[in-house]
Amino acid sequence: MDERHFETREVHSHARNDQYGAMMPPIYANATYEYASPTEQQSEHRYSRMSAPTRGALEDSFAMLEGGEHGFAFASGMAAIDAVFASTLSPGDHVVAAKNLYAETHDLLADVYAEYGIETTHVPVNDADAIADAIGPDTELVYFETPTNPVLRVGDIEAAAEAAHEHDALLANDNTFASPYLQRPLELGADIVVESLTKYQGGHSDVLAGAVATNDPDVAEDIEYTQYTRGAILGPFDSFLVLRGMKTLSARMDRHCANARAVAEFLDDQPGVDPVYYPGLESHPNHEVAARQMADFGGMVAFELDGDRETVTEFAAGLEVFALAESLGGVESLVEVPALMTHQDLSPDELAEAGIDEGLVRLSVGIEHHEDLVADLAQALDVALD
Ligand SMILES: Cc1ncc(COP(=O)(O)O)c(C=O)c1O
Repeated sequence: MDERHFETREVHSHARNDQYGAMMPPIYANATYEYASPTEQQSEHRYSRMSAPTRGALEDSFAMLEGGEHGFAFASGMAAIDAVFASTLSPGDHVVAAKNLYAETHDLLADVYAEYGIETTHVPVNDADAIADAIGPDTELVYFETPTNPVLRVGDIEAAAEAAHEHDALLANDNTFASPYLQRPLELGADIVVESLTKYQGGHSDVLAGAVATNDPDVAEDIEYTQYTRGAILGPFDSFLVLRGMKTLSARMDRHCANARAVAEFLDDQPGVDPVYYPGLESHPNHEVAARQMADFGGMVAFELDGDRETVTEFAAGLEVFALAESLGGVESLVEVPALMTHQDLSPDELAEAGIDEGLVRLSVGIEHHEDLVADLAQALDVALD
């Protein structure tokens, strides 16, 4: 076990064993590897869907940062999440999942896995008793994101792991919003951690990627099997881009967190803005759990604007530093309106269930200067709430 600080480990996360002493792992744009004889491979690699050097460097780095033994990289966060479900669930199994899941994760369980006879019970992520009560004899998997998208509710990972393990179920957590710099579910008792690397790990809005890590050798074997049979692997160029991003994760994340706090505190004082969802505010209903299991509170902030769709549309369009776009975790600040953008396919009931009102705005706070971000929000609020 490498006892050095996270910031040191992320920079030196992969082996440097290139023949030319290259600082970064080379991009092996390669599908197949020569054998020495039909029964003897020349190296550990034979075909890139099974294993490949650039992806391998990323998989090892990801696993190490999450505190896992085994890592697997996929073509997107959704491909990684699908691999978790495909590897752990069989017909007749029951899943306990949060109500506030990322929309496509919800759809994957509701539309794809339900067809295979896998039933899901949805419970509020921030209600540890409801999670424990929903686990039954057929429950194979407990699954949630924390903090959640978009209203940043926080689930108690330790409590969920204890409840899951009492019934021999596995706990898997989507750690996309926190990243391993702020929160490491495996160290808190989870069996599997999954992440969209598209967000904070890549960090520059230039690549789609996902990964899974675990310490459980049986789970690892099943995920490896899923990875090479389904084949949704991450290619060498994208693996390289994520590796490059990962080296600055903590430096970027420190700025994301400081800026998000400044933005949340500013918004909290504004008339026409209520509530502000940010786990770092003491008024946040899950502040205590967040403070216990996270090193800091992340770069995401959401809030309700007092007004209708037109007010929110005017506000979002009036921002100049924040770009109007989906996604999160890149260096640039983004704004989005969940009811009209990321969550537009939900019915009014589903929107209400997810805590998404017409006036909800979600910010991915970037690493620009915080005074410019606050000034941008102030001018757009002035215009929209006039
Ligand atoms: C929490 C969370 N999980 C998973 C995903 C899916 O990741 P990807 O877009 O890389 O497939 C997202 C995407 O926004 C997300 O926010």
